[in-house]
Amino acid sequence: MSAKIIDGKAIAEKLRQQIAVDVAAFRERTGIVPHLVAVLVGDDPASAVYVRNKHSACEKNGLRSTLHKLPATTSQEELLAVVRQLNDDRDVHGILVQLPLPKHIRADVILDAVNPRKDVDCFHPINVGLLSQGRPWFLPCTPHGVQQLLIETGVPVAGAHVVVIGRSDIVGKPLALMLMQKGPGANATVTVCHSQTRNLVEIARSADILVAAIGQAEFVTPEMVKPGAVVIDVGINRVAGKLVGDVAFAGVSEIASAITPVPGGVGPMTITMLLKNTLTAAELATEGRRMKAEG
Ligand code: GUN
Repeated sequence: MSAKIIDGKAIAEKLRQQIAVDVAAFRERTGIVPHLVAVLVGDDPASAVYVRNKHSACEKNGLRSTLHKLPATTSQEELLAVVRQLNDDRDVHGILVQLPLPKHIRADVILDAVNPRKDVDCFHPINVGLLSQGRPWFLPCTPHGVQQLLIETGVPVAGAHVVVIGRSDIVGKPLALMLMQKGPGANATVTVCHSQTRNLVEIARSADILVAAIGQAEFVTPEMVKPGAVVIDVGINRVAGKLVGDVAFAGVSEIASAITPVPGGVGPMTITMLLKNTLTAAELATEGRRMKAEG
C-alpha cells in the first residue's frame, strides 16, 4: 500500500483564508488590529526561522506582529520585566516567548509570568488546567494543528485508538488531553508512550492513529505501524543539513493509509493555529468575550 500524503500546507492555507476573513471582520467591528509580540532570546538559528515564519504569516493574514529580540546574555529578571511590560500593554494581545530559552533562564518562571489571557501558546498553568477540564480559552498550537489535520482529512477519531509517542508539555501531553475529550476530532482512546514504555513496538502497532512527537529522527519504523494506520509526524530534526521527521517516511508510507510529510505536514498547521489564538486573544481583550471557563 502506498499512503495518501496529508498535505498540511494546503490544509493550513485553506484554514488561514478563513482566519483572515475572521480577522478582517474583527477589525471592521472594533477598529483594532490583533497584535502578537514574539520574544526571541539569543541566536538559536532554528528559533530565528520559526519566529520569522510566524511573523510573515501574521502580516499576510491581517494581524500585526512585532519581534522583541534580546541578546543571549539577557538575565531572567530582565526577561521577566519585558514580559510584565507586554502584559500591561493594552496594544499587545498575544505574547509568545520562543523556546528554548538560554540555559541560565528558567522557562517555567517566564511562562508562568505571561498573562493567561495573552498566552497564545497555551503554556500557562491556568490554560493547561482549563484545557484539561475541557473549557479552554486557547488550544495549544501544535496539538490543535494535529487535530485539525485529522478533521480536515476526514480521519475518524471517535473511538479510534490513538498512540502518541512523546510526553512533552508542548505536544504529547496536551494532544492526549484533547483527543480523549468529547467533541469533534476527539473521543479517542489514547495511549501515551515515552522512553520508559515497555513493549513500545506492540503498543504503537495497535494504533489506528499513530502520532510521533518524540524528537528523534526516524524513530518510527515500519514494524511499529499497523497496516492502514494514519501516521502523523510532529518531529522536525535536522540530519546532515536535511529536515527529517520522527518517522522513517519511505518505509512507513508503504504501510500506512495516510501520512504527513516533513516538511509540509504539521509545521504549517502550528503557525495557523497561532494566528487563530492571536485573534482569540484580541477578542478576549477587547470584546470581553465570555469564555467557557467563565460560564
Ligand atoms: N519552540 C518550539 N515550538 C514552540 C512553540 O510551539 N512555542 C514556542 N513559544 N516555542 C517553541
